[in-house]
Amino acid sequence: MTRVLITSAIPYINGIKHLGNLIGSQLPADLYARYNRGRGNEVLFLCATDEHGTPAELAAAKAGKPVAEYCAEMHEVQAGLAKGFGLSFDHFGRSSSPQNHHLTQHFAGRLAEAGLIREVSEKQVYSNADGRFLPDRYIEGTCPNCGYDKARGDQCENCTKQLDPTDLIEPRSAISGSTDLEVRETKHLYLRQSALKDDLDAWIDSKSDWPVLTTSIAKKWLHDGDGLQDRGITRDLDWGIPVKKGSDDWPGMEGKVFYVWFDAPIEYIACAVEWADANDLGDAAWQRWWRTDKGAEDVRYVQFMGKDNVPFHTLSFPATILGSGEPWKLVDHLKSFNYLNYDGGQFSTSQGRGVFQDQALDILPADYWRWWLLSHVPESSDSEFTWGNFQQSVNKDLADVLGNFVSRITKFCRSKFGEAVPEGGSYGPQEDALIADLTTRIRAYEGHMDAMEIRKAAGELRAIWVAGNEYLQSAAPWSSFKTDPDQAAAQVRLGLNLIRLYAVLSAPFIPFASDAMLAAMQSDDRSWPEDVAAALGALPAGHGFTVPDVLFAKITDADREEWQARFSGSRS
Ligand code: MF3
Ligand code: ZN
Repeated sequence: MTRVLITSAIPYINGIKHLGNLIGSQLPADLYARYNRGRGNEVLFLCATDEHGTPAELAAAKAGKPVAEYCAEMHEVQAGLAKGFGLSFDHFGRSSSPQNHHLTQHFAGRLAEAGLIREVSEKQVYSNADGRFLPDRYIEGTCPNCGYDKARGDQCENCTKQLDPTDLIEPRSAISGSTDLEVRETKHLYLRQSALKDDLDAWIDSKSDWPVLTTSIAKKWLHDGDGLQDRGITRDLDWGIPVKKGSDDWPGMEGKVFYVWFDAPIEYIACAVEWADANDLGDAAWQRWWRTDKGAEDVRYVQFMGKDNVPFHTLSFPATILGSGEPWKLVDHLKSFNYLNYDGGQFSTSQGRGVFQDQALDILPADYWRWWLLSHVPESSDSEFTWGNFQQSVNKDLADVLGNFVSRITKFCRSKFGEAVPEGGSYGPQEDALIADLTTRIRAYEGHMDAMEIRKAAGELRAIWVAGNEYLQSAAPWSSFKTDPDQAAAQVRLGLNLIRLYAVLSAPFIPFASDAMLAAMQSDDRSWPEDVAAALGALPAGHGFTVPDVLFAKITDADREEWQARFSGSRS
């Protein structure tokens, strides 16, 4: 048995995410977690909300709530949606947890002891009225380029020009509106990533099995231009993890917090601590996943993320871990994704363009979305959601192929033999051929899932469903029943067993339908078909079943048109 640690990039807390976010890390990670559990591997699957930084503070201000309260509420909302989509996290944590405070401060202390942190004096805008330094985007004023009067200190939203706060005409605080601003000297901490360049280089070179997309991004950051830059890891914000050296105060750093990208990946570890604490498991329980001196040396650690996250996971977070000098687990395999576009453009949170997770679940069950998203995952290039493609894929793959198979065989059996697996007859050459074909396909499916080739896996699973349909079509028990009821009984027995087999194989993609299929077959035998012939005998003659409700309803043209119009923009 292998032990597999799986993390998904942790979504920002500010607001409900769209389907592009879902397929960019959490959903593929869930697929892989479910598959590995199905194969009998021991899995720890972790995700959390990413709660610090200016976006969280700004979103809370917009919602008119204290930031801690806003984050607590949004965490529950995101947790509810994750559950709705069937994301099977062992723990869904929070980067604002006490466990992450502790670990983040611990890492900073270790890095400081190792001489890997330097203090830098910088000039920064201070607001007397607010009594604090202002991050660039907390300063507003008139754009020197286009005259827009709500330009931010980092960028003008109107003309997109990149700005420095000092470029703004009549700058004011975005918090209070005060113009009583001055430039002051302040200290910040920088992580000396440059000192870790050789270690990182060697570590990345040791990853010969990583996708080129991943290693090329990492190598580019290591070697382009001036090479790996030291990175500011502190910010002047109220909300965040206070800057400390372990449990000691850090002189000069009062009122400052760690930069969100410093503490967010550490939450991958803290989340395991939260999980152990929440379940009263003790420290050894999380350490055997994360500490190579405590049993994690034979854990396989796989991370899932969008391509924009790759530098943080191949360089910044490993720099934190390597720099600590402690035996923490490093990532073994990193699966990254391109972007999902929406109907001729991009998903846009600010413009409300595209389908958001809550809306998706309002109109259709999770499995419809899971199947489409996973079978069209932006793996080797960006991909695009269109309503026409979605309708076609759901109606064909799920309703016509899988749903129809289940309905036909259960209804036929009920009408001719009753609601139990029929006895009599035996499998012949046609069944043997099907078993051989399925064996080949299932082994291929496993290969693609092991390699995290998700589109290929989806294609193979679809082919496995099609093979059952074709068998049923050509075996035609409704005809053989008239001449040889025993043969029809054997064919139906195989068909009913196929439903259980499909439920097991399909569970990583469509877990809810899988549960419904198993419930209809009155079985909780989820064992993986290592031997396909044996698996097709799991439900013996006499085993009861029921005809399930329609597994997948078709999407009508009227639905499609209505939804297309409804989600074209400006979520209210
Ligand atoms: N919140 C980030 C995003 O959505 C991902 C953070 S991943 C972690 O892009 F490594 F920082 F945890
Ligand atoms: Zn402008």
